[in-house]
Amino acid sequence: MTVPRANGRYALPRPFLKWVGGKTQLLPELMKRVNMVGDFGRYHEPFLGGGALFFELYRAGRLKRQAYLSDNNPRLIEAYEGVRDEVEEVIALLNRHKRLHSEEHFYRVRAKVPKTLVERAARVIYLNKTCYNGLYRENSRGEFNSPFGRYKNPVVCDEDNLRAASKALQKTKIESRHFQMVAEYAEAGDLVYFDPPYYPVSVTASFQGYHKGAFGEDSQRLLAEVYTKLAARGVHVLLSNSMTDFVRALYKDFTLDSVQASRAINSRADRRGKISEALVRNF
Ligand SMILES: C[S@@+](CC[C@H](N)C(=O)[O-])C[C@H]1O[C@@H](n2cnc3c(N)ncnc32)[C@H](O)[C@@H]1O
Repeated sequence: MTVPRANGRYALPRPFLKWVGGKTQLLPELMKRVNMVGDFGRYHEPFLGGGALFFELYRAGRLKRQAYLSDNNPRLIEAYEGVRDEVEEVIALLNRHKRLHSEEHFYRVRAKVPKTLVERAARVIYLNKTCYNGLYRENSRGEFNSPFGRYKNPVVCDEDNLRAASKALQKTKIESRHFQMVAEYAEAGDLVYFDPPYYPVSVTASFQGYHKGAFGEDSQRLLAEVYTKLAARGVHVLLSNSMTDFVRALYKDFTLDSVQASRAINSRADRRGKISEALVRNF
């Protein structure tokens, strides 16, 4: 779990974006399984989002070889590239957004995707920190559409964490691509962590607003095929998903543990709370 520093703040780096399905709650359970593997080769995280496990592994000194980070949301990937390659410029732009911050400024920034990579990176981080619920959502045209969030003092620019994240990302490969491409890169002895959009527990619980193009049953089946292929190759594969009959059937040939996680992504407060999630491993 994230360990607070002596001064009461959390050890850095941590995710610099708040993402739907963020895995901070589940980190102790995920780390317990990674520790079963011992040393591994390269690390692959093909559904990157906020990258909670990547940062945790970095802090724990578990990344001895290169990390391959990817997601099919190009805006998200640009934010990582900006933080990795131009963190001081991203910080300067975020401080500018912070000074100008208002509802009007938020909608002006939301309306326009700027030209340069650093501007785009700062835009995504600024909108993520100031939008309603802090969640990045896109409409069917792939445009960011979360409304303004009414926070008194949003932390638009956590300079220490951005610099620490930049350092952690220095030797990583970061790509915008479909998860199935991991099959081209992962080799025997590597570790892959799949954290896909979860298969819905019920129709109303479904949340697939990450990106245009939902992650339906066909995508879940394709993912299970890729999982099986990697496992046969001798790759260590860890996956999280909802604890449902559908998921149990897809991964029946592997070890499936039930773990408890708290869920905040539900508009009805009475439905928040502990739910069971599945962790699938082949080791
Ligand atoms: C559950 S989130 C990952 C959360 C992340 N583990 C964290 O700690 O924040 C799922 C991610 O998968 C991405 N995604 C959805 N469909 C994808 C696909 N076909 N290929 C690659 N990434 C995809 C989404 O953009 C989203 O960032």
